[in-house]
Amino acid sequence: MDTRVIKLKNRPKGRPEISDFEFDKTEVCSLQDGELLLKTRYVSVDPYLRGRMSDAPSYIPPFEVGKPIESGIIAEVIESKNKDFSKGDFVSGTLDWKESQVAKADGLHKVDPEKAPLSAYLGILGMTGLTAYLGLTEIGKPKEGETLLVSGAAGAVGSVVGQIGKILGLRVVGIAGTDEKIEMLKSEFGFDAGINYKTTENMTKAIAEACPDGVDVYFDNVGGEISEAALFNINKFSRTINCGAISVYNNTEIPKSISVQPFLVKKSSLMQGFIVFDYADKHPEGIRQLTQWLNEGKLKYTETIREGFDNIPKAFLELFDGKNKGKMIVKI
Ligand SMILES: NC(=O)c1ccc[n+]([C@@H]2O[C@H](COP(=O)([O-])OP(=O)(O)OC[C@H]3O[C@@H](n4cnc5c(N)ncnc54)[C@H](OP(=O)(O)O)[C@@H]3O)[C@@H](O)[C@H]2O)c1
Repeated sequence: MDTRVIKLKNRPKGRPEISDFEFDKTEVCSLQDGELLLKTRYVSVDPYLRGRMSDAPSYIPPFEVGKPIESGIIAEVIESKNKDFSKGDFVSGTLDWKESQVAKADGLHKVDPEKAPLSAYLGILGMTGLTAYLGLTEIGKPKEGETLLVSGAAGAVGSVVGQIGKILGLRVVGIAGTDEKIEMLKSEFGFDAGINYKTTENMTKAIAEACPDGVDVYFDNVGGEISEAALFNINKFSRTINCGAISVYNNTEIPKSISVQPFLVKKSSLMQGFIVFDYADKHPEGIRQLTQWLNEGKLKYTETIREGFDNIPKAFLELFDGKNKGKMIVKI
């Protein structure tokens, strides 16, 4: 049996293009003991995949040119030679961008469509929800009454960070790229204020106005100039969580930026990067807490769902244009 596959064609220089992806066909291997035949149902596209398209050393190996791209996927078990999985189960894991594939069961775990919609296991109850919860609580150590500033606030991670901030009793200000997103942050997710960075000339001043008591916790999803403006507004003993830096992922040269050290020294401030897998031992606790808040109606989520296998690369590229609200997912 043949299946369609999407491979990395070229390592992009700067912003990736559709031509950096190759649409091909490949044979589905025959099923061996312990393995599963899977049909892809939902595919997660994420900004970090841009890093894997380059060959620069990172925390995760790069994709190989001419080989399938992989990401978080929800798949249906079509046939099983593994006693722990049955036909009709749904699994979540890192899988190839293929319509059908045979996979070992290691690293895959069952997800229950009765407990939450399947796509939620790629977002709020998956990697991005955990990133929001663990980054904010483990590094941000938020305290009631403090001010939390979130960049990339209308995306998968940012929209959850802001809501958790509200649950924990903080004043929350979000930065995003359209007025519609800012309105959504305030009316649907309970943010106290928002700044559209695309229509704001002086971000330092706008942050100061939106955060009159300064910034105690800055959850940074974007890096670059927005985060420089945040630095001018940090409080004594503030904490900056370096979650991501999407504004510079497509840069071809190391960007020139201001020195952060004097800001951190003057304010006795902490800045720390992290990868969600650093806290793997806390993932079960994170999922329990996120599920509880969801069931209590304290946490909401939104998704942007694109349809069709052929649209996976396009949906990924759209992240860099801010076309998504909440988690970007492709339904197959
Ligand atoms: N450390 C970790 O373990 C970890 C885990 C997951 C994600 N991340 C990082 O967290 C960040 C958010 O990830 P996500 O999955 O939640 O993605 P996302 O926020 O759902 O999608 C990306 C968003 O980034 C914004 N954006 C794009 N280009 C930008 C630019 N030049 N300047 C400012 N904003 C820009 C867009 O929104 P606008 O319309 O607002 O521009 C877009 O919607 C990414 O940097 C990602 O790499 C880190």
